[in-house]
Amino acid sequence: MSEIRESVHGQWSSRWAFILAATGSAVGLGNIWKFPYITGENGGGAFVLVYLVCIAIIGIPIMMAEIMLGRRGRQSPMNTMRTLALEAGAPGHWAWLGWMGVLAGFLILSYYSVIAGWALAYIFRTAVGTFDGQTADGVAHIFQRFLADPEGLLFWHTLFMVMTMLVVARGVRGGLEKAVKFMMPGLFIILLILLGYALSTDGFARGVSFLFKPDFNALLFKLGEDGSKVWNPGPVLTALRHAFFTLSLGMGAIMVYGSYLPAGTSIARTTFFIAGADTLVALLAGMVIFPIVFANGLEPSAGPGLLFQSLPLAFGHMPWGAFFGTLFFILLTFAAWSSSISLIEPAVTWLVENHGMDRLKASVIMGIACWAFGLLTVFSFNVWSDVRLLPMFDTFKDKSIFDLLDYLTANIMLPLGGLLIALFAGWVMRTEASCDELELGDGLAYKLWLALVRFVTPIAVIVVFLHAIEIIKVG
Ligand code: PHE
Repeated sequence: MSEIRESVHGQWSSRWAFILAATGSAVGLGNIWKFPYITGENGGGAFVLVYLVCIAIIGIPIMMAEIMLGRRGRQSPMNTMRTLALEAGAPGHWAWLGWMGVLAGFLILSYYSVIAGWALAYIFRTAVGTFDGQTADGVAHIFQRFLADPEGLLFWHTLFMVMTMLVVARGVRGGLEKAVKFMMPGLFIILLILLGYALSTDGFARGVSFLFKPDFNALLFKLGEDGSKVWNPGPVLTALRHAFFTLSLGMGAIMVYGSYLPAGTSIARTTFFIAGADTLVALLAGMVIFPIVFANGLEPSAGPGLLFQSLPLAFGHMPWGAFFGTLFFILLTFAAWSSSISLIEPAVTWLVENHGMDRLKASVIMGIACWAFGLLTVFSFNVWSDVRLLPMFDTFKDKSIFDLLDYLTANIMLPLGGLLIALFAGWVMRTEASCDELELGDGLAYKLWLALVRFVTPIAVIVVFLHAIEIIKVG
C-alpha cells in the first residue's frame, strides 16, 4: 500500500540507512547527558527500571505508529496528518498535530544547540589538557566559569547551529545519511573504552548498584514537611516523559524519517533495533558516569552539569586521558548533531512542500530563527539567570528560561504529541490500514500493538497530565 505515494524529498537508500538515521536521531544528548543526570536526581535503580518499562510498553508502540504514519503519508507531518485523516474520514484538523510537533522541534533545538555547544567547547578543552590532574572542585569551577561567559556560549551555539544547517541543507541522502554512517559505531566503541576505565575505579561497584539496584521506597515516596512519608509520583512521570524525548517521539521527527522509508521494510523489527540501541547507549553512559561520580565523591544529583563535571575528571587522571577525552566529546557532538538535524527536518520539509522553497533556503531560514531563539537559553545561564517568564505558577517560579523550555517541550509537548499519535493510529485510522502498513499479520503481535496504542499509552499520558495540572497551581 505504501507505494501509492512518493516523497518529494527522496528516500533512504536502504533499510539500514533509515535505521542509522533514526538511531542517530534517538541517540543524542538525551542518552549521554540527560539520562544520567535525571537518574541521579531521581534516586537511581528504581527509576531506571520504570524507564525501561516505559520504553517497552509506550515508546516502542508509539515509535511503530509514528513510522507507520510517516511511511503512509510520505509528506511533512502536517500534510501527512491531514492526508491520512481525510483518508480515514476524519477532519483535516489533525494537521495541527504536525504544527505542534514543528513548534516542539524548534523550541527543543533552540536549547539543544546550546548544550551541544558545551560538548563542542569541551573537545578543545580536553585536547589542550585543561583537565589534566584537576580535582573535582577544579573541574566544577571550570564548568561554572564557562557557563558564566555568554560570549563563549554564544560562539559554540552559533557554530553548532551552522553545522546542523549544513547537513540539513544537503538533503536526505547527501546530508543526513552520510553523516550518521560513521558516527554511531564510533560512539559505541568509545563508550566501551570508557567503561573499561570506569571498571578500574573504586566507584564501579557503587555506581552499578546505584544504577541497577531498585529502591522503590526512594522512588515512590519523599519526606513531607513534617517528616512523614508522602507519595511522590514525580520520578515515575519523569521516566515516562523521558521515554518520549530519548526516542525522539511525539514531534514528527520519526514520522518524517519514516516518510523516506522504502516500502516493504519491517517497521516492528527496525523499531526494536532503534529502541534497543538507544537504551543500550543510555545504560552504558550511566555505567561510565556513576562510577566516576562515586569514586570522586561527587553528588549524583548535580543536575545538568553532571556529565561535564564528572567525565573531565576521569580524562584528567587516566592514561591517554586527553586523547580519549577529545574523542569522547567529538562523538558526543556527533550524537547531538544527528539528533539536531531531525529536530528541524519536519519544519524544513513543510517549507519546501507548502512554500515552494528549496532546501537550502528553508534550512537557512529555520536555522537563523532557531539560533536567535537559542539566545534565550545562552543568557539564561548567566546574565538572565534570574529571569522567570512565568513566575505566577508554582511549578515555574524556580525555573530559569532554559528549565522552562525543557519543561514545556519534554514534559508537555512531546507526551501530548505522543498521546495524539497513539489516539490517531489506534482509533482514527482504520484497522485494515494499520494492519496492512505494519505487516505484522492480524495475529497476536498486531493485537498487542493495537491494545497498547489504544489504551495503555493514552491512559499513561493522561495520568501525567492530571498530575501536571494538579501541581501547576497559580501561586
Ligand atoms: N532523542 C534525542 C536525544 O535523546 C532528542 C530528540 C528529541 C531528537 C526529539 C529529536 C526529537 O538526544
